[in-house]
Amino acid sequence: MDFQEVLRRRRMVRAFEPRPIPPDLLRRVLGVLPRTPTAGNTEGLAVLVLEGPEQTRTYWSATTTEDWRSRSRRWPGLAAAPVVVLVLTSADRYLERYAEPDKVASGLGRVPSMTGEEASGRWPVPYWFVDAGQAIYGLLLGAVDAGLGACLLGTFRGEEALRQALGVPPAWRVAGAVLLGWPADTDPRSPSLDRPWRRQARLDPGRLVHWGRWHGPPFDPSAEPTLPGPGTPRASKVGTSSGQVASKEPGNGPAGG
Ligand SMILES: Cc1cc2nc3c(=O)[nH]c(=O)nc-3n(C[C@H](O)[C@H](O)[C@H](O)COP(=O)(O)O)c2cc1C
Repeated sequence: MDFQEVLRRRRMVRAFEPRPIPPDLLRRVLGVLPRTPTAGNTEGLAVLVLEGPEQTRTYWSATTTEDWRSRSRRWPGLAAAPVVVLVLTSADRYLERYAEPDKVASGLGRVPSMTGEEASGRWPVPYWFVDAGQAIYGLLLGAVDAGLGACLLGTFRGEEALRQALGVPPAWRVAGAVLLGWPADTDPRSPSLDRPWRRQARLDPGRLVHWGRWHGPPFDPSAEPTLPGPGTPRASKVGTSSGQVASKEPGNGPAGG
């Protein structure tokens, strides 16, 4: 499927048909994972795949309550998802990786005198969650590419219980759960989609993209972008509606890539 088509079609699906996903299709979706970029190539991510009602029940039992299940109009559609992929991330892996010789100058690695909390508090943002978000988006797009539907759920409760039930070591955090399956006809529309900001952002990309400075010149979607050709430096130059050129050097801060 064309990439633009995949982007256009992706949405959160909150009601699934209960039929299982054939193994080759599931492997195709999971095949996006080794392509996920990770900071410093740390690869401090893992997924835990729960397949079929018996396994997915472990997820639901840990993360939802009887009360919520009896009141939620979404519960039957969500619970029917044949696969739940837990996306896990380990700060420890990043703290170890950034203490290696090629990264030690970043000051982000953990030295023996530090607790894990002290060391992770030094990071500009927690890259372990940034990377998990990228893996999750890959899975969401991979699902569309495979003709499936997907939904990302945050873990609002029960993360510890879930880890224990599945034997996941405490160093690993559950960044999110991606439900996979075939969308059911009963999939309800999310009220989040009707929030004015979201509607506006789709109609007016200028609300998302700021040119040159915060609330810079207005975005003109019909303007031709000028991208670097072969042999030109890696800085990208993108023309704006006002004829200005915004130059974006690839980031190369102390932590490197
Ligand atoms: C980090 C994150 C957590 C989310 N958690 C939930 C969730 O717990 N339950 C849910 O129904 N949707 C959840 N969503 C889905 C958003 O509500 C949804 O992406 C948004 O409303 C836009 O809709 P769309 O993805 O269908 O375009 C989450 C999305 C993100 C990015």
